[in-house]
Amino acid sequence: MSPTIGVVGGGQLARMLLPPAARLGLRLVFLARPGDAVAAVWPDVIEGDPDAQGLRRLAEQVDVLTVEHELVDLATMRALQDEGTAVRPSADTLDIATDKVRQREVLGAAGVPVAPWTLAHELAGITAFAGDHGWPLVLKRPRGGYDGRGVWVVEGPDAAEAVLAEVDGDPLLVEPRIALTAELAVLVARRPGGERAVYDPVETVQVDAMCREVLQPPRVAASTVAEARRIGGLVAEVIGSVGMLSVELFVAGDRVLLNELAARPHNAGHVTIEGAVTSQFENHLRAVADLPLGDPSPRGAAAMVNVVGGEVDPADRLADTLGAAPGAAVHLYGKAYRRGRKLGHVTATDDDLERARTLAVHAADVLTRPAAAIAQPTGQEATS
Ligand SMILES: Nc1ncnc2c1ncn2[C@@H]1O[C@H](COP(=O)(O)OP(=O)(O)OP(=O)(O)O)[C@@H](O)[C@H]1O
Ligand SMILES: [Mg+2]
Repeated sequence: MSPTIGVVGGGQLARMLLPPAARLGLRLVFLARPGDAVAAVWPDVIEGDPDAQGLRRLAEQVDVLTVEHELVDLATMRALQDEGTAVRPSADTLDIATDKVRQREVLGAAGVPVAPWTLAHELAGITAFAGDHGWPLVLKRPRGGYDGRGVWVVEGPDAAEAVLAEVDGDPLLVEPRIALTAELAVLVARRPGGERAVYDPVETVQVDAMCREVLQPPRVAASTVAEARRIGGLVAEVIGSVGMLSVELFVAGDRVLLNELAARPHNAGHVTIEGAVTSQFENHLRAVADLPLGDPSPRGAAAMVNVVGGEVDPADRLADTLGAAPGAAVHLYGKAYRRGRKLGHVTATDDDLERARTLAVHAADVLTRPAAAIAQPTGQEATS
């Protein structure tokens, strides 16, 4: 009998766990809020917050706990683990994966290449670091950031001072602004006993520090891909992850450096739904339920484009998009429309990455813009 899995969170990552759960006959119970993406489409939802009370209510009903976001009460996760609940990933893994400073400390010490960094509580620490590394610098909240919220590029002391005022005395992670030639993500599925499946690294493209596109295969040298895979496997071992782990990496020339971790299914892995033999969502469930992992091999080239709220609600553009791009896989998360919010994504697969990308970009364009504003993709009919 497979274990019942309790998932903390009910957003789009939780929702994308549903198709493989239904197919494999796994029972999932979510701790979510009424308007969340899973609530409309799945019966087993406990309404509540990821605080001590909510986590304990969820734990009572399930055999194993996992997460779809990082904003959980870690002390309670740890207490539940100590009391005998299977928490996957573990509280220790979550602690590292939710703290950009701990990631640099622990993984830097284990031999993972990291950029120079410091932790600053006041302007003097930041300007001293700039004295060694020059401006501009990147300042980050160590915990709780997402989609670029909590990341600031500062050109000089005045801008740094403004960020310090904004975070109201919280310490900031300080890094040089790296001249990035690309960004990669390595996804690793890992079972409690250590069996793991490492996906081929994918390229992530950020706009305003938010992930916009994911490309498979990445447009980098084979030696860079090999180094990324090595780092991905090493990180999974060092932090003992269970379930999916996404290791975000910077590429600067021939160097590959750690950016940050997510110990859960991740935006960079949405492309695996159509683009890999086994998706990150299925492998997350398999790993958390301690079932044999699925094959992570890619199925050719694939491009994923996020659908970010623009001038119109993508839900109102669905028919036009399906008509204009019948070969694209459209995913809408059922979230309320708001400008700048991730509301869905589109994936296209092809033998040729650029063709896949053209189709996915076109479909995302049709979803997010008024009908009158849509251009045909270059070199092909929208209806082909
Ligand atoms: N030191 C740096 N140098 C250059 N660019 C950086 C640096 N740090 C971050 N960035 C850019 O900002 C993006 C967001 O940073 P990071 O991944 O730390 O933020 P996040 O908000 O936690 O991310 P996510 O959107 O993955 O939740 C990176 O993907 C990269 O494009
Ligand atoms: Mg990131």
